[in-house]
Amino acid sequence: MTALLNNVRTLAIVCSQWGDTGKGKFVDYFAHEWADIIARGTGGANAGHTIEAGGKRLIVHLVPSGIMCPGKINVIGNGVVLDPRQLARELSELRAGNIDYEDRLIIAQNAKLVLPQHLVLDKMRGIVAGKGKIGTTGRGIGPAYAHYYDRFGLFVNDLLNRDVFVDRLDQNLAECKALLKGYDRPDELKKIMSKPDLGSGMFYSAKDIFDRDNIVAAYLASARELESMVTDTDAFLRESVGRKNILAEGAQGLLLSILFGTYPFVTSSDCSDQGLATGIGLRHRDIDKTLAIVKAFLMTRVGEGAFPTEMGGAKSAFWCGGEAERIAREEGFSSVEEMEVAKYSSLKWDEPNEFLLGIISRLTGKEFGATTHRPRRPGWLDLPLLRYAVHVTGNTDIILTKLDVMGMCPVIKVCNEYEYIGPVYRIGQRTLQSGDRLKVAIPRDDVLKHCRPIYREFPGWMCDIRGITSERDLPLDLKALICFVERETGTHAKILSVGPDREHTIFSN
Ligand code: IMP
Repeated sequence: MTALLNNVRTLAIVCSQWGDTGKGKFVDYFAHEWADIIARGTGGANAGHTIEAGGKRLIVHLVPSGIMCPGKINVIGNGVVLDPRQLARELSELRAGNIDYEDRLIIAQNAKLVLPQHLVLDKMRGIVAGKGKIGTTGRGIGPAYAHYYDRFGLFVNDLLNRDVFVDRLDQNLAECKALLKGYDRPDELKKIMSKPDLGSGMFYSAKDIFDRDNIVAAYLASARELESMVTDTDAFLRESVGRKNILAEGAQGLLLSILFGTYPFVTSSDCSDQGLATGIGLRHRDIDKTLAIVKAFLMTRVGEGAFPTEMGGAKSAFWCGGEAERIAREEGFSSVEEMEVAKYSSLKWDEPNEFLLGIISRLTGKEFGATTHRPRRPGWLDLPLLRYAVHVTGNTDIILTKLDVMGMCPVIKVCNEYEYIGPVYRIGQRTLQSGDRLKVAIPRDDVLKHCRPIYREFPGWMCDIRGITSERDLPLDLKALICFVERETGTHAKILSVGPDREHTIFSN
């Protein structure tokens, strides 16, 4: 680690895929071993991080992952969309776990507020969008960012000034009501607003859609818990650059970035290291090193959108997009995970049906959302997408995670290029025609959904690698695969993660 972080004072950890790649483990690792400050700068409660330390296990959505490390400062930066009620819940869990956060957690005064109307708009869009459904986490992320960019959003700081808050809230609610009236689904609206994350109906008004007074009361009450932490975190971080070890904690992944991702099936923040820097009040050049996480050799995606290498293709997308949840509910299981464990645990790794192989992979990798509990869509590692991520970010130092998951899979497929099989598609001065080969993905859903993966097949290494502590001792078949990925994408695997725990980490030479 010392060699890797030589002369590094600000380190960013981001994901080069569609998120859920195991960032949490490495943020936690560097938070313990290296950082003085851990700062989040993008996304909101759509993220879910499971952190474990000292025998305690906690899922955080807004609180940075360094909160379990005594003495470290944790920052929620300006680029985060923050729901104060959600944060208040997380803080009460910290208190219940005797995790002291006083004086160690600070919140950007210019972070953006997520309010009940944002959750409502997000969930309503999910219902009325039909084919264009994104499959969001329903945490109000898109509407909160959209309102900010449309200049009628609210800041965390507004909570410190009651009159300003009420005034801006009224303005915002007026816009939201106008939008919601257009949906013309009063029953759906009422149903959504009766859900627990929307106060089980407390924010609903049959006459006005929103009960403004209840929103004011609830948000000002949560604000009282947070107000001592609200400050100018941008200035704090600017002053800390070069003097303290700053760990910038990414959320989601590059392929979900609003700027660089597989639009429109993306989130609404820029998940790149550049977006992360801005979201904590720094410049991109303040980041001395970025480590980009790549999950291999199983890749996953949650929500809608093309996924060329998905195991089981459309069947898997349908299953993970709601069908599994429906069946689990109908059959009395408490979650899809519980149902899949009950029904599919006995499947073998030489299973010829790729949809089922996907389920084995998901169960082995515990690939279920920490925020929504949705089953993640499983697929083979996609190098055209990784090449694209490397091209746009220049991030060639990577951390390969979850290498242990496919350990018993006899054949590992890696997609090395695509064949485009679709209508003639013009992209700038380039014209794509059926039969064209693509080595670098074009991150547009209109293109990706017509890309057929062309695979290279490799023999699996067929053993448990969790106990291995040195690169030298890794199975030859796995080493060959890693070399192939590095060579094909111009990356360098600096760290290999061979299991979930901190000791399952190998620093490469
Ligand atoms: P939103 O961020 O809730 O608006 O969701 C937009 C898209 O990003 C959906 O496809 C989500 O499944 C996906 N997404 C959001 N957060 C995460 C995450 O933390 N991991 C993986 N996918 C995510």
